[in-house]
Amino acid sequence: MLNYQSLLKKFEFPLFFAPMEDVSDQSYRLICKSLGADFLISEFVSSEALIRDVEKSFHKLQFSEEERPFGIQIFGHDLNSLVKAAQIAEEQHPDFIDINWGCPVKKVVAKGAGSAILKDIPKMVALSKAVVDHVSLPVTVKTRLGWDHTDKPIHEITKKLQDTGIQGITIHGRTRSQMYSGEADWTLIGEIKNDRSITIPVIGNGDINSAQKAIDYKNRYGVDGIMIGRAAIGNPWIFKEIKQFLKGEHFTPPTLSERIKMVMLHLTEASKIKGEKSAVFEMRRHYSVYFKGISHFKDTKMKLMNCLSIQECQDALAQWEF
Ligand SMILES: Cc1cc2nc3c(=O)[nH]c(=O)nc-3n(C[C@H](O)[C@H](O)[C@H](O)COP(=O)(O)O)c2cc1C
Repeated sequence: MLNYQSLLKKFEFPLFFAPMEDVSDQSYRLICKSLGADFLISEFVSSEALIRDVEKSFHKLQFSEEERPFGIQIFGHDLNSLVKAAQIAEEQHPDFIDINWGCPVKKVVAKGAGSAILKDIPKMVALSKAVVDHVSLPVTVKTRLGWDHTDKPIHEITKKLQDTGIQGITIHGRTRSQMYSGEADWTLIGEIKNDRSITIPVIGNGDINSAQKAIDYKNRYGVDGIMIGRAAIGNPWIFKEIKQFLKGEHFTPPTLSERIKMVMLHLTEASKIKGEKSAVFEMRRHYSVYFKGISHFKDTKMKLMNCLSIQECQDALAQWEF
């Protein structure tokens, strides 16, 4: 088993596809991987749900060998449940376990999980340490700068988490109260990376939406890797674009027929995992980006947004007059 640092070293500059509920399922992770994403992470899995009904949450733990290095992300608020969930996740043999201390969503925060823990650093440290102590896989944490603009203890948090034995941290440069608004602030991420007492890898996250920005931020903040979320929704080619940019190569954007082909692949692969209905429904958030900048998309988009089956999607795309 490799430690997290050694996993990162396998790549010139590691690109992470961010964990995103209802987006980063296995079908889309594999698409992103085929286009250059190095590290993949599951959608977050509730530790309570996992313990209560392993079967139901089980599909979220599934991954294939091609996806390595692969992390399973768990969230929770109770020490015993979190530890038990980490042990269940470990049985699937991912490369690392990631703890979510960053989710800002109300239903998660109300239970004291996700970013709620940013208000109770001793608890965050105790729970993280308990997970580290009870699994043999590397444990990493994904979190935010702090609770709000008056409270950004991420530097202190990183030091304390490092002492628990976590092997890496991903920092989204926003506070909980920002949710997804405003701009991600990478200055603190850069300060942490440049603090010599912090030796664990620091992955930067937030608003990376172009190859140019990825390289600029890599150089400016010196992070050990970059995680990309929303900009990869409907644009899995962003990983390829960044990789080529790094090598000084020219990136040719996908043609319309390549995009249509990718949409159909995405739909069919997703339906194998979650069933046709969910696959067709979840695909709706990707269309605008898959076909961004393509003229005469409006009518087809209207049709796609109302499709209930893969066949209907295929027909709508086939009838597209452009
Ligand atoms: C639809 C959606 C679902 C998300 N689900 C998760 C999740 O399950 N676990 C997690 O750690 N972060 C989750 N996030 C946050 C992203 O991983 C990422 O931190 C955030 O979007 C900022 O990165 P970006 O600016 O590159 O999108 C989610 C974000 C979105 C938009």
